[in-house]
Amino acid sequence: MGNPIQPFWLERYFAQYEFKAPYLLSPSDCESLSLKDVLGMADAEDLERWEKLSLGYTESAGLPGLRREIASLYSNTNPDDILVLAPEEGIYITMRALLSPGDEVIVLTPCYQSLVEVARSVGCGIMEWPLLSAGDHWELNRERLISLISPRTKMLVVNFPHNPTGFLPKREDYQYLVELSREHDLWLFSDEMYRFLEHDPTCRLPGMVDLYPKGITLGGMSKAFSLPGLRIGWLATQNRTAMEALSTYKDYTTICNSAPGELLALIALRSRDGILARNLDLIQSNLAAAHDFFYTFSRYVNWYRPQGGSIAFPEWIGPKSLDQACLELVNDYGVMVVPGHYFNYPGSHFRVGLGRRNFPEALGRVEAYLQQMA
Ligand SMILES: Cc1ncc(COP(=O)(O)O)c(C=O)c1O
Repeated sequence: MGNPIQPFWLERYFAQYEFKAPYLLSPSDCESLSLKDVLGMADAEDLERWEKLSLGYTESAGLPGLRREIASLYSNTNPDDILVLAPEEGIYITMRALLSPGDEVIVLTPCYQSLVEVARSVGCGIMEWPLLSAGDHWELNRERLISLISPRTKMLVVNFPHNPTGFLPKREDYQYLVELSREHDLWLFSDEMYRFLEHDPTCRLPGMVDLYPKGITLGGMSKAFSLPGLRIGWLATQNRTAMEALSTYKDYTTICNSAPGELLALIALRSRDGILARNLDLIQSNLAAAHDFFYTFSRYVNWYRPQGGSIAFPEWIGPKSLDQACLELVNDYGVMVVPGHYFNYPGSHFRVGLGRRNFPEALGRVEAYLQQMA
């Protein structure tokens, strides 16, 4: 038996403030590119294709050239291993197509809510594998993970670089997840939406699609590539049974993708080095500002340095409750801040988004708030 799906609390919170608050301290994406920016990256052939683009239905699995370009992001993956879809759709489809009521799913938490909620709505038992706070950074605990495995466990769900903490595991810990999943014959769903935003690029992990035959990678244009409005992402797996089940399910969600979104994604991916360099510069400069700021205001906040992605998850230790502080910040200072309970995390952590140009101004508003509190 399935369960009614819960509202997506984080998305509802964003819906309330994202287009009203002048400053966002907690967005997860990097500064968006414009249509003009992307067309500026196109060569003459792409531009002609853009001008003549038919707005008809498209190939269900995705534009063949785009699937080829996506496959080139991995080392051992073919275009046939790629299904293009909206990222959120990728989570929904995977859980719906591969899980059944009564299965158990282990999910790394805190997490983006749909990674846990869709499986719960299918009727699965959810076993939360908590990322542990170690004072100023985050840690995985292998023993805890092993203790959650049962004969009913069907899937392990992870997300690296991790939303909301910016945690990135060591290569041997990532590989350990593969060995454990192999031993217990689990699907390993790896949300890699923040891949390519490793603060030290030498720490980048391989896509799960390259490592494990029952691995499923979720990737997309929304975070590292600055194009969330295209609604283009992908599932990548070498497992034929999974690919067939995922493709079958897609006929009941979107059938196919939007032609303009696919072509713009293709143009942007071909120019990915420039986009990624721009975003990493922005993140590094905002990270330095955040580091100084939270050091100065360490009476109010414990800073946790992230290792990848465009987000961090420090802890509020100020005199008011975190919810009260977030309410006052958005109502009186025009800065939206997302409290950690939107990621089902108890306590007083909050998300900081490091990918936007006006991050220093948003910090300035937070500074004004903290100063009047002193
Ligand atoms: C970890 C993670 N996975 C998936 C998604 C979904 O991406 P999109 O909003 O582009 O559908 C997000 C969006 O914030 C995310 O943070």
